[in-house]
Amino acid sequence: MISSRQFCHEQHRASLAKRFSVALLVLFFAGMAAAESGADAWLRYAPLDRRAAKEYAQFPSRVVALDDSVVVRSAQQELITGLSRMLGKDFRAASYQDEKENAIVLGTLAEVRQRWRDLRPPRILAGDGYWLRAISRGKYQAFVVAGATDRGVLYGAFALLSEIARVEDVTALDDVQQPRAPLRWVNQWDNLDGSIERGYGGRSIFFDDGKVRADLSRASQYAQLLASIGINGCVVNNVNANPQVLDSSFIAQIARIADAFRPWGVQVGLSVALNSPEVLGDLDTFDPLDPRVAAWWSKKTNELYRAIPDFGGFVVKADSEGQPGPSTYGRTHADAANVIARALKPHGGVVFYRAFVYNHHLDWRNLKNDRAKAAYDNFHPLDGLFDENVIVQIKNGPIDFQVREPVSPLFAGLPHTNEAIELEITQEYTGQQRQVCFLVPMWKEALDFEMHAERGEATPVKQIVSGAAFHRPLGGFAGVANVGLDANWLGNPLAMANLYGFGRLAWNPDLSANEIVGEWTRLTFGDDPAARQVIDDIQIRSWPVYESYTGPLGAGTLTNIVGNHYDPAPESSERNGWGQWHRADHEGIGMDRTMATGTGFIGQYPPEVQKMYETLAACPDDLLLFFHHVPYTYVLHSGKTVIQHIYDSHYDGAKEAQGFVTEWRELRGHIDDDRYEEILAMLKYQAGEAIVWRDTICKWIDGMSGIPDGQGRVK
Ligand code: GCU
Repeated sequence: MISSRQFCHEQHRASLAKRFSVALLVLFFAGMAAAESGADAWLRYAPLDRRAAKEYAQFPSRVVALDDSVVVRSAQQELITGLSRMLGKDFRAASYQDEKENAIVLGTLAEVRQRWRDLRPPRILAGDGYWLRAISRGKYQAFVVAGATDRGVLYGAFALLSEIARVEDVTALDDVQQPRAPLRWVNQWDNLDGSIERGYGGRSIFFDDGKVRADLSRASQYAQLLASIGINGCVVNNVNANPQVLDSSFIAQIARIADAFRPWGVQVGLSVALNSPEVLGDLDTFDPLDPRVAAWWSKKTNELYRAIPDFGGFVVKADSEGQPGPSTYGRTHADAANVIARALKPHGGVVFYRAFVYNHHLDWRNLKNDRAKAAYDNFHPLDGLFDENVIVQIKNGPIDFQVREPVSPLFAGLPHTNEAIELEITQEYTGQQRQVCFLVPMWKEALDFEMHAERGEATPVKQIVSGAAFHRPLGGFAGVANVGLDANWLGNPLAMANLYGFGRLAWNPDLSANEIVGEWTRLTFGDDPAARQVIDDIQIRSWPVYESYTGPLGAGTLTNIVGNHYDPAPESSERNGWGQWHRADHEGIGMDRTMATGTGFIGQYPPEVQKMYETLAACPDDLLLFFHHVPYTYVLHSGKTVIQHIYDSHYDGAKEAQGFVTEWRELRGHIDDDRYEEILAMLKYQAGEAIVWRDTICKWIDGMSGIPDGQGRVK
C-alpha cells in the first residue's frame, strides 16, 4: 500500500513525466514540421528505426579524408552529418593512421591505392565514377569511398548515404558506378530581375533586382542537392539571355555563385546572347566570322576564367523566338557556335548550342508547313561542322515539351556532332507543378527509343546522347529545372521526383521509372509501406492520367499557347504562326506529317522508324494524331473510334485524378501532417482542374465533330 504522501509524490512525478513527454512531443513535432518543409528533399537523413540502425552497428565512426580538396571535405562532412542523423551516434572527422584502421576512408583512387596496394576496383574507374568497397574486419566494417576525381568521391559518399537511408545491405559492397554521360547539367531560366521564365516554385535563388543576391545560401543548398544526384553543371540564367551577364561588373557577381557551387563540384554556366559583342563591346557587329567579334569573345572569356577558373561554359539560343542569331549575317549556326567554342577551348569550357530553332511566323494556311521539321532542317546539314567542344542541345521532341511527342529525328541526324538531350523538369506544359505529372516514364520512352541510326548497331537515344553510339568525345543531359525560393524548391513536393529522376537518368539511363520512384519515395517520405505504395503508384500513373484528360492520341497542343501554357484552350493553337497546330476541323483531326501526303516530317527519321509512323496500320495509337489527319470515325487499333476515344479518355482520366485524392487520404498518419495536407490540397485542386479540362475539350470536340458521345455524357 502506498501512503497519500507517496501517492501525491507519484502523481507529481507522473504529471511531470507527462508534461515532459508532451513537451518532448511538441518539440519533436515542431522539429519535424521544420524539417519537413521539403527543403531537404531526398537528403532528409531521417533517423532509422532502432532495428534498422542495428544493421549498421559495426559502422566505424571515424571518417577520414585522404584528400584536402574542398569537394572531398564536403563529402566527409556530408557523411558525418548524414550518418550521425540516421544512425543516432556520433561520427567524426579523423586523420589517416594506417591501412588497418577502422574508418570510412575517402579519397581519389590514386590516394587509396597508395595506402592499399592490393585493393583494386572490380572495373575501370574513370570520369566522375566512384567505387564503394566494404572491408570486413571482425567486429568492424571499414569502407573505402574512392573516385577517379574528387567529384567522384563526393558522388560515392552520397551513394553510400542513400544506401543507408534505404536500409540496404552494405556489408559486401564492392561496386563501381560510372555515369553514362560526361555532361549532366541543369538549366535555370532565371532572369536578372529575379523572375523565372516558366518557373513555378517562387523567385530566383540567384538574382534579384538586376543583381546576384547577397544571400546565396539557397544556391549552396541547391548545389548540394544537385551533387547528390550526380549533376555537375548549372546554367544560372535564362536562355533568352540578357547580354548584361557578361558585363565586367556582373562577372564578379557570378563568381560568387561559382563559390557557392564549388564545394559540391557543380560548375557554373551562363546563357549568352549572340549579340553580346555589339551590346556590351564597342563593336558595330556580332558577325561570328568577323575577327573583331572572335577577339571579343576570346577576351571576354579570358576575363570570365580569371574570375571563375572552373567555369563550365555557355548555352546559346540563337535565331529562335526573337533571339539574335547568325542569320543576321547569313552565317550558319556552326559559325556562331564555333566562334564561342574557340574562345572557351583553351580553358576547357564547352558550348551547348540549342537546336530549338524555328520560324514562329509560319503560314498556317500552307498544309506543308511544319514546325516539327525545323530542328532537323536547320542542323542536319551542319553535321560535322561543329568544333569538338560544341554540344548541340536537342529537346526530346520536335515541338516543345508537349505531354506526348515522338523523339526528335535530329538525334539520328548528327552522327558527327556531340549531342545532348534537353528535358524539361519544370512542368510548363504538364501541369505547372499544380498537378502531379511524374515525367520519368516519358523521358524513359525517349531515351530507350531505338533510332536505327546505324545499320546493325544499337542506337537508342540514350546511347547517342552519352556520346557512345557515334563515338563522340562529349555528350550529355540538360534539364530545365527552374527551382525557386519556395521552401520545397519546385512548389510541390511531388514534383521533386522529376528533378531527382532527371539526375538519376543522366547518371544511368538504364534505370527504370519504378526503380527511380522507389528510391525517391523512400528517401523523401520514409519507409512506411503504405506511404511507399500509394506515392509510387500515384507518381507512376500521373503522366498517363494527365495525358488522358489534356491531350490523348498525340493530338498536339490543346492548351493555351498564347498565354499561360496551362488552361485548356484548343483554338489558341490554330491559325497563328507558332506552328503548334492540331488541325481539328469538322471532318477530322491531326497533323498529316506523312511523306506520302503530308508535311514529309516522317522522312527525317531513319527508314526503320519511318515505317513505324508512315502508315495508319503501323502507327501507334498514342501518336496517331501527331502523324496523321484522320476522320473522327477512324477506328483505332484499340477498336474504338477516335472521337469515342477522346470522350472516354477525358472521362476516365478525370475519374482517375479524383481517385488520387481518395488514395492519398489513406496516408493520414503514415507521413508527416504538413506534407500530407499540402499534397492533399493539391490533389483536390487537380481533381477539379481535370474536370475543367474534360468538359472544355469534350464540349469543343462535340461541337467541332458534330458526333455525340456514345455514352451521352457530353451536354
Ligand atoms: C518554350 C517556352 C519559352 C522558352 C522556350 C525555349 O517555348 O515557352 O519560355 O523560352 O521554350 O526553350 O527556348
